[in-house]
Amino acid sequence: MADVILELQAVAKHFRSADGHQRSVLEGVDFALRDGEIVALLGASGSGKSTLLRILAGLITADAGSVLYRGQPLYGPARGISMVFQSFALFPWLTVQQNVELGLEARGVAPEARASRAESAIALIGLGGFEGALPRELSGGMRQRVGIARALVTDPDVLLMDEAFSALDVLTGERLRDDILALWQTPQMPTRAMLVVSHNIEEAVLMADRVLVFASDPGRVQQALPVTLARPRDPDSAEVRALVDEVYALMTHRPLRAARPAALAGQPAAALLAERLPEADVSRMDGLLDLLAEPPFNGRAHLPLLAEETELTDAELLPVAHAVALLGLAQLEAGDLQLTPLGQRYVAGHHGLRQQLFGQQLLAHVPLAAHIRQVLEQSPSGELPDKPLLRLLADQLGDREAARVLHTVIDWGRHGEVFEYNVTTRQLRLPTDEEGDDSAVA
Ligand SMILES: Nc1ncnc2c1ncn2[C@@H]1O[C@H](COP(=O)(O)OP(=O)(O)OP(=O)(O)O)[C@@H](O)[C@H]1O
Ligand SMILES: [Mg+2]
Repeated sequence: MADVILELQAVAKHFRSADGHQRSVLEGVDFALRDGEIVALLGASGSGKSTLLRILAGLITADAGSVLYRGQPLYGPARGISMVFQSFALFPWLTVQQNVELGLEARGVAPEARASRAESAIALIGLGGFEGALPRELSGGMRQRVGIARALVTDPDVLLMDEAFSALDVLTGERLRDDILALWQTPQMPTRAMLVVSHNIEEAVLMADRVLVFASDPGRVQQALPVTLARPRDPDSAEVRALVDEVYALMTHRPLRAARPAALAGQPAAALLAERLPEADVSRMDGLLDLLAEPPFNGRAHLPLLAEETELTDAELLPVAHAVALLGLAQLEAGDLQLTPLGQRYVAGHHGLRQQLFGQQLLAHVPLAAHIRQVLEQSPSGELPDKPLLRLLADQLGDREAARVLHTVIDWGRHGEVFEYNVTTRQLRLPTDEEGDDSAVA
C-alpha cells in the first residue's frame, strides 16, 4: 500500500445552532488519502462534505479524533495542502497575477520568486497572457482556473477540491476537469494526491481511484468503490457506465422504510420529525412519475437513463427519486426506479385523485407532515405559526436545512391538501372546505 499522506481518525465535528443547541455534523469519520491517488467524495447536500474538507485543509479544527498530515498532527493550514472552492474565492480588485501570488505571500516567499512562480502556475493551467486581467474580465471557467493556479502555486502535495466545477456550465466544467486530469499525469504537477467533492456521479467515476459515498446525520463514510480503469476514461465506455450504475445503486440504497417506525420508537420525537426530506418539488415528482410510466420505460427505468431523459443532474434527480420512493409511489432498487402499484394508480389518476393519494402517503410516511396535521386538528384556531416548527427542526438540522425541510413539507402538504400555508402571516392551517370541494371536482 502506498504511503498515507493525509489521515482522519475517528473525527467528529459539532456545530452550535443559533439557540445554543449542539448538532453533530461528523461522527467517527475515518479516512486516509494515499500517495498517488484521486479520491472522490459524493453525498447528499448538508451531509458534511465541505466541513470534512475544511478540517483536512486545517481551516477548522475537529472536536474529536485526530487529523494527521504525513504522520504529524495538523494544526492550522499546512504548507503542502491547498484547496479549490466552488465559489472561486478570488479578490475582485486584484489581478490574476496578484490573486495567484497571494498564496505565496502568506508563506513569506520573496517578491521576485513569487512573480515567476505565479507566472508558471498561470501558464500551467492555460491562462498565460491574462496575468494582468481582473476577475470580472474573465469567464467563469477562466476564473476557476485562477482559483486552481492559486492552489497549485505553492506546489501542494494535496489538492482538495470542493465542487470546483459545479458553478460552471457543463462543457466548461468538463474541459477544466479533463485539463486537471491531464496535468495530473504530467510531472509538472507536483501534487501527490487529490480529494474531490462532487455532486456528479459520472465526474466522480471519471476522476477517481476510489469513490466514497458519504452518509448524513451524522456524516460519515458509508461506502467505498474502487475504480481501477486507466485514465483518461471514456464516459461512454461500458466500464464507466457500469461503475456509474453501481454508484447510483450505492447512493440509492436505504434501510427499509417499513422497519422505521418501530426502530425509531424509542427516539425522542424531535429526532423523528427532523428528517432531512429530499429536496424535491411536487412538479418534478409528477414529471418524473409521468415519464417513468411512459414508453420506453413503461414503469421501470435505470436512473442514469432517467437523468439523461429529464436533463437533470444527479444532484437534482436523486432527491426526486428518493422523494417518490419515500412516499411509496415508486421503489428504488439497484439503481433502478420502478413504479409501485400505487404509483401506477397515481399516474393514471386525474388531479384530484393524485392529490388524495399524495396526501394519504404523506401522512403515512412523513412524520413531520403527520405531526403538523395533528397539531392543526387540535389547535383551537386551526392555525400554527411556522416559527416553533423551524426552531424544532433547526435544533437537529441547523437553520438553513430547517428552512429547506419546512419549505419542502409545505410544498408537499399543499399538494396533498394536508394543510395550507399563508406566506404573509407565516401560518399553517387546515385546508378550507372550498378547496376540498374544488379538488373533488377537479
Ligand atoms: N460554521 C458553521 N456553523 C454552524 N453550522 C454549520 C457550519 N458549517 C456547516 N454547518 C452545518 O453543517 C452541516 C454540513 O454542512 P456542509 O457544508 O459540510 O455540508 P455539505 O455536505 O458540504 O453540503 P453541500 O453539498 O450542500 O455543499 C450543514 O447542516 C450546515 O448547516
Ligand atoms: Mg459543500
